[in-house]
Amino acid sequence: MTLSDCAAELSPRSTADGSFSLFSSAFAERFHSASGALSEARHTVVGPAELERFLPGSTVVVVDVCVGTGSNTAALLEAAASRQLQLHWRGLELDSRPLQLALADRGFGAQWSAEALAPLHQLAAAGHWSSSLGSGEILWGDARGRLAELSSALQGQVDLVLHDAFSPRRCPQLWSLEFLAGLAQLLAPQGRLLSYCSAAAVRASLKLAGLQLASLQRPQQPAGSLERWCGGTAASPSALPASTWLRPLTPMELEHLGTNAAEPYRDPSGCNSAAQLLAQRSLQQQQRLARGEIESTSAWRRRWGLARGST
Ligand SMILES: C[S@@+](CC[C@H](N)C(=O)[O-])C[C@H]1O[C@@H](n2cnc3c(N)ncnc32)[C@H](O)[C@@H]1O
Repeated sequence: MTLSDCAAELSPRSTADGSFSLFSSAFAERFHSASGALSEARHTVVGPAELERFLPGSTVVVVDVCVGTGSNTAALLEAAASRQLQLHWRGLELDSRPLQLALADRGFGAQWSAEALAPLHQLAAAGHWSSSLGSGEILWGDARGRLAELSSALQGQVDLVLHDAFSPRRCPQLWSLEFLAGLAQLLAPQGRLLSYCSAAAVRASLKLAGLQLASLQRPQQPAGSLERWCGGTAASPSALPASTWLRPLTPMELEHLGTNAAEPYRDPSGCNSAAQLLAQRSLQQQQRLARGEIESTSAWRRRWGLARGST
């Protein structure tokens, strides 16, 4: 398939900050929030990574789950370079076309420094990179299958896992209890998994995997909106102190984890389809509600005065 053949499936999208982004018709979802790839990388990756935790000259071990256009990695490379850090990087990604489309776009090229772009070009051409900023390798294919290889090499050693899959509704395969537990095992004691996602099912699964949670501070509150939503989730084997970027979960968010919405996606074989995962979860939710084991999410919403669809 050529780049122009995939234009119908992956089409460029404009974003508020002017950065390059894509829409996937296969997943019926955009790659980044409407605020843009740059803004998202800043608020969900670079800020909450708190690179000031690492001494200049040290190496930060990173796993980028769903590399896509490479925006998160490019932003992290620039931030690491400004702090004299190197990356030992691994990426998981099913499809090489988002990276190729991004690198073929002039605007994308203008977004990043030459030293952040060079590793992306090397990845697209050869699947690995090496430069003054460190080294890395991308593992193409279904991240569920490739994770096992990372686990044997990097268990307990990863400082940052960047989890940027499509939403759980569109891509539940990468938000299952089993997949998230696999990512949790990669983390070093002070390591962090960072994601834009704050879905109760994902947070509950991360907790079941033994991680502690924090909310990412939301960058800008839309005028008139409730002051209560966060910008994503950080999870770690260790407590996550509050900071400019992180805050504890609010009582409303904690109660969300006791509702129907917190039912995990389950994928013990690691090869179920999205439809199978969604159907199996829905059945489990109905059964647990019928047995009175959990609160309905609509009751929780009413208690907190939330509109439907706001969670
Ligand atoms: C939201 S986009 C990632 C955005 C990316 N971080 C960026 O900045 O461009 C989700 C990505 O997940 C990839 N993907 C979907 N299913 C996957 C799977 N099972 N394993 C690995 N990658 C997958 C898609 O190809 C897509 O590039």
